[in-house]
Amino acid sequence: MKPNTPSMPNSPSMDAYWMPFTANRQFKAAPRILSGAKGMHYTADDGRRILDGTAGLWCVNAGHGRPEIAEAVYQQLQTMDFAPNFQMGHNPSFAFAEGLAKIAPAGMDRVFFTNSGSESVDTALKIALAVQRARGQGTRTRFIGREKGYHGVGFGGISVGGLVNNRRVFGPMLAGVDHLRHPLDIARNAFSPCLPEHGLELAEDLERLVQLHGPETIAAVIVEPVQGSAGVIIPPAGYLERIREIATKHDILLIFDEVITGFGRLGTPFAVDYFGVKPDMFTAAKGLTNACVPMGAVFCDRAIYEDMMKGPEATIELFHGYTYSGHPIACAAGMATLDIYAREGLLTRGAALAAHWQKAFHSLRDCPHVIDIRTIGVMAAVELAPRADAAGARAYEAFVHCFENGQLVRATGDVLAFSPPLIVSEEEIDELVAGVRAALKVLK
Ligand SMILES: Cc1ncc(COP(=O)(O)O)c(C=O)c1O
Repeated sequence: MKPNTPSMPNSPSMDAYWMPFTANRQFKAAPRILSGAKGMHYTADDGRRILDGTAGLWCVNAGHGRPEIAEAVYQQLQTMDFAPNFQMGHNPSFAFAEGLAKIAPAGMDRVFFTNSGSESVDTALKIALAVQRARGQGTRTRFIGREKGYHGVGFGGISVGGLVNNRRVFGPMLAGVDHLRHPLDIARNAFSPCLPEHGLELAEDLERLVQLHGPETIAAVIVEPVQGSAGVIIPPAGYLERIREIATKHDILLIFDEVITGFGRLGTPFAVDYFGVKPDMFTAAKGLTNACVPMGAVFCDRAIYEDMMKGPEATIELFHGYTYSGHPIACAAGMATLDIYAREGLLTRGAALAAHWQKAFHSLRDCPHVIDIRTIGVMAAVELAPRADAAGARAYEAFVHCFENGQLVRATGDVLAFSPPLIVSEEEIDELVAGVRAALKVLK
């Protein structure tokens, strides 16, 4: 072996790797292996090209294999591979935070770096507790999350999250957490072209929980502006505005989890811009570095940062951070990603694609098993009727069918979810939808 040649066997044994969120035994018996990625496509190990209908895992927003990012990472690795950000600093993290501040919604330009969406969520929850205390509101220790919410897999995230399989075996989790009901209402809202008409009244759950627990006990409420992992659940018209009003009335911090909706997914830089509703903090991760290097961030309103910057100057204001917070390689990847987003207008390109996207997906309405279609920006869900004896099986089989026929789609429960890189063309959208149509036709 030549020096510098990575030793990567062609067909490694699959025994050692415990795969995440995967039926390991089923997968290892019939694996789907990806070996390359460029632009809108993956290459499978048998050489097939697979159209990426999910931007990997909702994260490769600028498309695969961008040489500018590779070059920036390579340069940074050669200049300085790693440096801590505890009690010292480096330019890449300050520069990247400054770059992010420029695209952040007005006033939300103080950025804490993490390494994932899960860490961003737990960080935002901890900042909420810390700032409430700094404001003399130390009794505010409760969090309100939402049913069907996905906020990653840390103990904070699963506590405020509302997906039962992610919670049921992990014990009592954080104390003092309560949940809003989710707004998915297929009976009343099926096939809504965009924001569902019915369900605004569900925002009043927040007022009800405030009255149940007492406002002085609640630190923050956290919601995904559009619930992604549970299957693209779109908030009813006026819902987020009403949540904001109630939170403000009771001095409860509002956190948006923008790990999926951030970086152009809705046709605006952030969901904050799309809905015109401003939280006190929002999380990000997936589009941050175009998924080339793991990284997350929490964007904070200036008022939060300023309220934390009081007291003796020699005091560490927040006893929180990760070894790799603001990792120089991730920051270099992130800076190059921001350049691509700006140069190619990708943070707003979704707005121009949305009409075609919506029409293409809603054309599946009469396909077998389809009970709802939801689209917003460049996100879509096709919800299937569950098979009587096997919930989730239909979507999983459609996913496998599509994969074998050259489209990557995501199955979550009985929902097929879509979120391609934002460089997708209208022809590729049509190809994706045609692949789904073919899969639905053969499903039992
Ligand atoms: C809304 C939301 N929050 C948090 C996370 C967790 O992110 P990660 O898997 O990077 O920890 C995800 C991941 O899908 C997400 O969709």
